[in-house]
Amino acid sequence: MSLIERIDKSRVPHHIAIIMDGNGRWAKQQGENRVFGHYEGVNSVREVVEAAGEAGIDYITLYAFSTENWNRPKEEVDALMELLVATISLETPKLNAKNVRLRAIGDLSTLPASCRQELQEAMATTETNTGLTLILALSYSSKWEIMTAVRQLGEDVLAGKLKPSEIREKDLEKYLCTNEYPDPELMIRTSGEHRISNFLLWQLAYAEFYFTEKLWPEFRKEDLFQAIINFQNRERRFGKTSEQITSS
Ligand code: IPE
Ligand code: IPE
Ligand code: MG
Repeated sequence: MSLIERIDKSRVPHHIAIIMDGNGRWAKQQGENRVFGHYEGVNSVREVVEAAGEAGIDYITLYAFSTENWNRPKEEVDALMELLVATISLETPKLNAKNVRLRAIGDLSTLPASCRQELQEAMATTETNTGLTLILALSYSSKWEIMTAVRQLGEDVLAGKLKPSEIREKDLEKYLCTNEYPDPELMIRTSGEHRISNFLLWQLAYAEFYFTEKLWPEFRKEDLFQAIINFQNRERRFGKTSEQITSS
């Protein structure tokens, strides 16, 4: 039986989040510079997006560039921004043909104008698509996102719209970039690193984590299917006992 046939389509995670890590190390293994790894990483993105569509996933969020990544050498940051523009421009017609809707989260105002423009156009072009929603996390970090949300809540309190004692989870969530999307149920990180690197700290509160030694450029279709199968073999208890889960 092929891997995709082993997936129970009625129980796939609605939303998968991925920390695409290991491009630099992969390039080094090939005797190339880091940017070569980012280019190859785009092929993994293409495959994984296709695989997500085939598996019937509704949302996939890809951590493409973190707030902290601005601290990398300027040449690498510039190359990543160029790659982003080129990739979006090249891939948008294909995304459109596959009924994929492109979205972005993060502090997009910090991206170069060319990037922002390409992104806005691609999002507008794919806006009415009804298949997979592909969310790119760009210049994103969770602490930035939560800080921004807290400031907005503070403004609401000052304006007398609500009292501090009345603040509920949903009031904060309203101001998160992910407001329109369900929380990810599965978080994948490649390259053998076991950390969250400021990614969706609030939204991953009850996600299942899947770590693989594979470097991002090596992570392809079958690897996503494998991660989904692994997810389906877990028991999600949400604080309850195993007996409560199996008897319900
Ligand atoms: C992930 O690969 C891509 C980005 C963070 C943009 P890295 O560039 O972090 O690769 P490693 O971790 O150095 O191998
Ligand atoms: C996390 O990868 C960010 C992205 C994948 C975009 P990093 O490679 O930047 O993470 P750390 O710094 O090793 O934790
Ligand atoms: Mg890394």
